[in-house]
This record gives sequence, structure tokens and C-alpha cells, in this order.
Amino acid sequence: MGSVTPFYASGAQTFGLESFDVRSPRHGELVATVSVPTAEQVEQAVTDLDSVRGELQRTSAGERASVLDHVSRELGRRRDEVAHLIALENGKPRQWALAEVDRGASTFRWAAEEARRFSGEVQRLDTEPGGNGRIALVRRFPRGPVLAITPFNFPLNLVAHKLAPAIAVGAPVLVKPAPATPLTALLLAEIIAETDWPARALSVLTVPNERMPELVADPRLPVVSFTGSGPVGWSIRDRTPRKHVSLELGGNAAVVVDRDWADLDTAARRIALFATYQAGQSCISVQRVIVHRDVAEAFIPALQAAVREIASRTMDPERDVVGPVINDAAAERIESWVAEAVAEGADLLVGGPRRGRLVQPTLLRDVPRHTALGSEEVFGPVLTVTTASSVEDAFSQVNDSRYGLQVGVFTQSMETAFTAHRELEVGGVVIGDVPSYRADQTPYGGWKESGVGREGVAAAMEDLTEPRVMILTGMPL
Ligand code: SIN
Repeated sequence: MGSVTPFYASGAQTFGLESFDVRSPRHGELVATVSVPTAEQVEQAVTDLDSVRGELQRTSAGERASVLDHVSRELGRRRDEVAHLIALENGKPRQWALAEVDRGASTFRWAAEEARRFSGEVQRLDTEPGGNGRIALVRRFPRGPVLAITPFNFPLNLVAHKLAPAIAVGAPVLVKPAPATPLTALLLAEIIAETDWPARALSVLTVPNERMPELVADPRLPVVSFTGSGPVGWSIRDRTPRKHVSLELGGNAAVVVDRDWADLDTAARRIALFATYQAGQSCISVQRVIVHRDVAEAFIPALQAAVREIASRTMDPERDVVGPVINDAAAERIESWVAEAVAEGADLLVGGPRRGRLVQPTLLRDVPRHTALGSEEVFGPVLTVTTASSVEDAFSQVNDSRYGLQVGVFTQSMETAFTAHRELEVGGVVIGDVPSYRADQTPYGGWKESGVGREGVAAAMEDLTEPRVMILTGMPL
């Protein structure tokens, strides 16, 4: 097989009959040729996952935690190598690849800690006469093997967010990584294979997207955890109403700059950076900026200057923050959305022609709501700015979206902060910063079309498990 990269079936490096190329989005160079599992190899891997359930259930918290600690430590020790791989296959600049490795190590470390704490709860039942001498123990057990379908934008950490909680609760996992970026997931499998984790409990199968429906339909995989595009995610849920499906989908994240925020330059720089970081390919990168009209005339030129400054530093892997988008189709789509917005009356404040997959950081003002850019997730280094007459108007603009993942609010007022927390239809509100902040231990997920269910280590552990009650009777309570 020479230089073909194997996939991981039941913990072992395995080759199929066919292969596909992984090319760097930066200059299109070949990064690896990856083997594709045959239908029989997939069948065997799923059979193995199903058959290992009981064995995994009997693993101790200490055993699970030690696997997770090992991965966390190895990611730290191999930090540069893993970041290099992420940057190669995904095209993201080195600084963001390094940040991702650090987050991945932290996600596994948190999972080790949560595995040690995962104890359940005790409920007293002597509240009614029939419950005298009785007590309930509520513990959670895995729903079953997990089909984890992961996206290209965080090839390590969004795999970690499915894999680490599954190991922490003792659930078998089949990872189907994005075909554009499978290598980091395969490296994770290699690191886990160094531990005592049962080999049959993990497969990373590089099956093409066209074969995903077979996996989704397989009744031996009762849990589907999907991160990716809305249409694919919702179709999985619609096709499998009896499965437990969690969806992390897109968003067109907004940030509000209120008139009480004094340091407009810092806000502008943070917003420009997190609208364009890793080419805007994050579900919580800033897309919509809503600024109070009293400060708009000072803020918008500052934002323009900040976006221009970032645009001057593109395509240098050592110092840029932008880099290319994942493929030509994405670049063409983003370009056409900007063109449509301009044709419909938006003002182009910063931007220019793309160079291949490099989309210039782009800022537009007053993009009509009916355009694709005004209503959909752009997933590119493009941001829009509008003004609001009041905080209420700004919040109603934030909520005027099909999506609801995260929002940022630059305000000094606790009253505005609490109002935002109560009123905004999103999974997370960041006060005093951009929406693009995620601490990997907190619940993370969307309202409305941004998804269902929550990740974030403890939240995902709950999502992957169901409670089972044990009632003890005749106890001397
Ligand atoms: C995402 O794109 O949904 C993940 C964002 C993050 O983890 O920072």
C-alpha cells in the first residue's frame, strides 16, 4: 500500500480497496492519500462497537480517566506536530492551529476530570408514607454506540468534543471525519490505540459523504452526533426520528456595540479579528455587527481600519489570521453572496477580488435582509454592519434570524447584560466581547435552526446517556 494512509477500524490501522486524496486548501498540494473502508469493513466495525458495549460499561472511572489523561498529555507533548497537521489539511494559520491543539488537550483533560466526578444522584423517597425506608439512586448509562460525524473547520477539537465525552461515559464511538480533513482524527485514534481502551470501542472510518446515510440508518448506532451544515443535519434528524440525534449547526452570529462602550477601537479590533479568524470558518465567527447609532460614526471607521489591517496580512501561514477557505466551491459561493448584496444596495466598505481560495476580508454596510448574506451563514471572512436606534432595536435585530448560536454584547451595563441573557434567542451570550469565545467545559449549542442538544464536556456526557433509577427498599433512613 506504500504511502496510502490507513483508517482505523476497531482500533487497528486498516486498508480498504479504494482511496482519496487530501489536498491543502492553501496551495492545493497533496497532503495524503487516504484509504476508504469497504462495506464489509464498515459492517465489521459496527458489529464490534455493538459487541463491546457491556465490556465498556464495566470499565472503571479510573480507567476511562487514564485514557483521557493520556490523550491530553500526548496532545500537549506533540503540540507542534499536531498543529502542523491541522494547518496542512485545513489551511488554517499556525496560530489558530496551535490554539486548537491547546483546546483539544483541555477538552480531553476536562473529560478525564468529569469521568472521575460522574456519580449520579441520590433522591429521598420518604416524602410520602409509601416511600418510607426507600431511597433512589439515579445513575446515567450510555444510550449506545455513537455515530460522530465531524466537520472540517476544527479537525481536532470538534472530534474531541464527541470522542472525549463518549469515552468518559463508556460509550463506543464510530467517528466519520470530514473527507477534507480526516488526518487529525486518525492521529487521535492512533494516540488512543496506545492505551488500554478496548480496541473494538473506537473506529475512525473515512467513508465518503455519499455513504453516510447507511451509517445514519444503522440501528446499532442509536446515537448520532452531527456537526456541520443545517440541511444535512436536519435531514439526519428527519430520517431517523427514533434515534437520539444532536445537531451542532451553523449560525450568523451577531455582536452588539452599545453606546456606553467607551473603548470603540478595541471593540473594532476584536470584531475584525473574530470575523475573519481562520477565514470566518467557525460557527461563532462574527457575521453581523449592530452598533448603536450614537456611536456609529466613530465606530464604523475604526472597524473599517481594523478589517483593512487584517486584510494586509493574508496568506502568510506564520503571521496571517485569515488564510484560504476550504475549497473553490466555498470561495465562489462567498464571492457570489457579496456580489448579490452589493447589487441589492449594500455598501462595500472593505473588500476586493478573491485570489483562488483566498477570500479578502470583506466589510459591508446595510446588507438587505432578503439577500443570502443578510440571512444565511456565510462561513467566510465577511461581516456586515448596521445601526440600531436603541438596545431594544439592536436585540430585535439579533433575534431576527433563523439561527441562534451565540451573541456578543459590548456594554458596561449589568442591566443590559441581564436583559440580553433573558431576551436573546441563542445558546450563549458573551458580555464585553465577541460571540466567538467558547470555553470547552461550558454547554455549547444552538437555538432555532442552529441545532438541538448541547456539547461541552459535561453537557455532552449527559446527552450521550440516559438516567436509570435504582430504588433501595427497607433501608434504615
Ligand atoms: C464551531 O464552529 O461550531 C465551533 C466553534 C468553536 O469550538 O470555537
